[in-house]
Amino acid sequence: MLLTDQIKASEAARLVHHAGGLRYQTLARIEALLPEGMKRTAETGCGRSTILFSNFSKRHTVFCLDDRDEGDRSSVRYFETSSFTKPAVINPVFGPTQLTLPTHVHEGPYDCVLIDGPHGYPFPEIEYYYFYPHIRKGGLLIIDDVQIATIGRMADFLQEDAMWDLVELSQTTAIFRRTDARTFTPTGDHWWQQNYNRRRTEADKPFLLKDGGELPSFADRLVMASRKRRKPLPVRLWRKLRRALKG
Ligand SMILES: C[S@@+](CC[C@H](N)C(=O)[O-])C[C@H]1O[C@@H](n2cnc3c(N)ncnc32)[C@H](O)[C@@H]1O
Repeated sequence: MLLTDQIKASEAARLVHHAGGLRYQTLARIEALLPEGMKRTAETGCGRSTILFSNFSKRHTVFCLDDRDEGDRSSVRYFETSSFTKPAVINPVFGPTQLTLPTHVHEGPYDCVLIDGPHGYPFPEIEYYYFYPHIRKGGLLIIDDVQIATIGRMADFLQEDAMWDLVELSQTTAIFRRTDARTFTPTGDHWWQQNYNRRRTEADKPFLLKDGGELPSFADRLVMASRKRRKPLPVRLWRKLRRALKG
């Protein structure tokens, strides 16, 4: 029997917290897919998922608002008062993730991260930015609420990205596994190396057709420059460009 089924049975008499918990069907899929022997996990937001993670992780960091003043509907109290929660495992970081994540010093790589905190644009993307370099190869990244347009777009991006394999879409939750691909440098640019961008940016730009993210050639850069200017390049530069393209 899955732990999720036991949680579900024990929670039957309780109202879910004000922000709405992950549905049990999805929680069960997450439970089934979690890597064995997880040392370190994290999530944004809290609730049912926190109860689950506290049972399968040695150290679970929860970045969430402290909503305990909301009484019975509080998402923090929801996991705190469950008899299935393992409180010793949980490391709460209270406050808006927009403020706590940028300065947080992660204790080590994560085996699994769930993004389910603030859902407005661009907050899940900000959370992704602060987490992705810290998710180990083979680890899971779970994004909830992909039915929301901007979160769905992020999931679309990740589905095509070299760093992630889509393992499963369970209801409105996307579950990705970190591949062996090199970590996209978090302080660089390199948008042209990202599959989602490569595939959607005008294909007649010659440098986009090259694999491996080579730097654009001189000719490529001239084409780009002419597009950026939105007015024709001076004749002198067009001649140079034609020569470069022919060569
Ligand atoms: C949809 S609920 C999370 C549900 C949870 N995963 C579960 O299974 O029950 C969203 C959570 O994000 C929290 N939250 C909302 N805005 C936040 C913010 N800016 N920073 C941190 N947490 C936030 C809410 O208090 C709530 O705990």
